[in-house]
Parts: sequence; structure tokens; C-alpha cells
Amino acid sequence: MADGQSSSSGSVPGASGKWSSQEFFQTQQPPQGLEQVAKAASEFVQRQIENGRKVVLVTSGGTTVPLERNVVRFLDNFSAGTRGATSAEYFLSAGYSVIFMSRQHSLAPYTRHYSHTTNPFLDLLVDPTTHVPSDAAAEDDGDTIKVMSQHVAHLRPILKAYHDARASGYLHKVSFVTVNEYLFLLREMSRVMQPLGRKGMYYLAAAVSDFFVPSTKVPEHKIQSGKGSLVIEMDQVPKVLKPMVQKWAPEGFIVSFKLETDPNLLIPKARAALERYGHQLVIGNDLQRRKFEVVFVERKRRPRKRTTTSDSFSSVTGLEKEDYKNDDFESTWMRLEGGGDGGEGGGKGGEREIEEDIVRELCRRHDAWIQEAEDDSSSRQVMAQN
Ligand code: PMT
Repeated sequence: MADGQSSSSGSVPGASGKWSSQEFFQTQQPPQGLEQVAKAASEFVQRQIENGRKVVLVTSGGTTVPLERNVVRFLDNFSAGTRGATSAEYFLSAGYSVIFMSRQHSLAPYTRHYSHTTNPFLDLLVDPTTHVPSDAAAEDDGDTIKVMSQHVAHLRPILKAYHDARASGYLHKVSFVTVNEYLFLLREMSRVMQPLGRKGMYYLAAAVSDFFVPSTKVPEHKIQSGKGSLVIEMDQVPKVLKPMVQKWAPEGFIVSFKLETDPNLLIPKARAALERYGHQLVIGNDLQRRKFEVVFVERKRRPRKRTTTSDSFSSVTGLEKEDYKNDDFESTWMRLEGGGDGGEGGGKGGEREIEEDIVRELCRRHDAWIQEAEDDSSSRQVMAQN
């Protein structure tokens, strides 16, 4: 197989429940309107290149697996899109342009602060014509609904950042629902970002289904009940990180995530992924602790003439670095003091969010990655001149 994976059966794609990514893309249905989505994204990327900006693709939220073509039922997962939406905000603040590729109706940058039932937007508002507020700021001028004064301090910076992001043209949104849509879009967005070279970062925070029902096996109509138990046979979704690293985004700085429920598995699994796919970094997170603790797992940096960036990694306050002697990997734990707020909508009332630390550390590493190529190219030029 061209992408290094093979379906164990040989000629029939997915016959043993395993698909290479090549087989998947050749046989499964691409999402409608993919060309237009790719064109719009490509124009966005071109504008960022003209402005000399770095671009990050943030994937976010869970994918569904439809069980019927006229979908009544589908499989889904827990992901609300908090990690992706929160990180996208910090990337924008850090000067990145962002392609935010998220599950439709999952949390989005800025609106995430109020979109969930734990912090509904309507709770902020008061209508002076129908409500007698104890709120002095809510004066009755007849046609204005107001934000209650106790919420203004929290809302104001979010509203400003939201409007700034919209006006700047630095945020581009793309959405998916199913795992098939996700995979086609991921391939397309990676291709679209190729011209960025090392200035492109890929932050794969989406929780992608590991199993799917291939289009040939999905029934047209609603599965009828009344026949006893329902048995669904699902195939394994192809691992696309390998073709992504090797073909779709060969120069990109690729960050994947690893979610486990047994924290002891995080580092071994993350290392195995780095060995298998050869990308730059895996961020490990435990399901219950993910909002206040993560671990960066990466290859040890080669000693180079310019050691400043490498040195600065270990001097960051609040980070705990563990070296795994006698091998090529190192891991760095990040923890939020006090354990974060744990709420679905992310930080409230100015509480710190772990994504701020994650993004700051990724920006350092990405800059070092860009710099490395520039150093290599200037030393090649010097050698050529000599
Ligand atoms: O959205 P939240 O509620 O905030 O939760 C965030 C999160 C826990 C979902 C997120 O932090 C996270 O860990 N996402 C990855 C979950 C995971 O374990 O994925 P995986 O092991 O199935 O995949 C490994 C990596 O490859 C992931 O980065 C995934 O996005 C990517 N992947 C996986 C399979 C596939 N077919 N395509 C992919 O791109």
C-alpha cells in the first residue's frame, strides 16, 4: 500500500475490517461541497501567507458514525470540543491564524463561554420593560435588552476578542459531523495548508471514532425494531496520521492527542504513536484529569549550535520535566494549580485554563521548528559559498 498500511485481505477493501487510508478515500463518499470548502480555505491560507502569518489547523469535537443512510441513529462520543475551542482562542491571541475544523454545534471559540447549559447566555440578560431588576444599570429605555452589571466585567473582554477575531479575518471555520466527513476534510485542509511549509501547525484535538460502517453496509432506511437484539459490525477507521505526516503535510508541525482512562498508559501510548507515525509531538490526557493536567511527549531535541530555545523549555515555571534516560523521548507534565474549574464551558470568571499553557509551549516549539529549517538553509548557503 502506498501509505504504508494494508488491508490484511489483499484485494477487497476492508474485507477483514481493516482499511488502508488509500482504500478508504477511493471507496467512501466525500462530503457534499468539499471542493468549495477547500477553495475557501485555500483562499484564507493564501491571505495568511501574503501577511506572513503562521496558521494552525485545530480539529475539535467528536465524530459520529451514522447507522442508516437516512440517519435516525448514530454513534457518538463524549467530546464537547472544549479543548479545541479554548485552544483556538489562545492561538489567535498568540498571533496565529486559525482554521477551526470542528464538529457542527460543538463548542466554538468565544461563544463557548456562554453556550452551555452550565452558563446560559439568557441568564446574563435583563429586559427592563418586563422585568423589575435589582440591577441599577438596567434602566428602562423601551427597546434595549441589557447585560446585568455583575456579568459585564466577564463578558466585555470575550465580546471584544470575538469581534476582533471576526473583523481580523484570522479565523476560518469548517465543520463536520460524521467520521467520513472528518477524514475527507482533514486530508483536504492538510493539502490546502501545504504551501505554508513549516509555518503550518496541525493541532488534532478531535476525538475521532475508531470504528465506522462502510457505505456499502449502511442500510438506506431506518433500522426496524422488533427483531430482537441488533448486531452491528463495524470496521476499523484507517489511521490517517501516517499519510498525513508523510504525504499531506510533510513539512507541518503535527501535534496529536492521546486520551486514556488509565493514566499509566499515556506515556507508552504516546511514545508508540511518535514511533509509528514520526510526527513532532503527542499530548497525553487522562479523561478525568484532562482539564487540569496533560503531558507533552516528544523526541529529545538534537543538540544544535543555537541552544537558546531548547534551554528555555526546561526553565518554564510550573512545568515538570521527566527525562527517560536511554531512549529518544522525553515527557513534560503540565498541571494547573488548584485543578481548574472542571466545567464544560471552560474557564469562568478569569480562572486559568490549561490550554493557555499548552498553546504557549507549542508556540515555542513551533518557532524552534521553523528556526531550525532557516538555520539549516543558511548553513547550507555558507557551505556552498565556501
Ligand atoms: O473536546 P473535549 O471534551 O475538550 O475533550 C478533548 C479530548 C479529550 C477529546 C482531546 O484532548 C483528545 O485527547 N483528543 C484525542 C482523543 C484520542 O485519543 O484520539 P485517538 O487516540 O483516537 O487518536 C490519536 C490522534 O489522531 C488524535 O489527535 C486524533 O485527533 C487523531 N486521529 C485519530 C484517528 C483518525 N482516524 N484520525 C485522526 O486524525
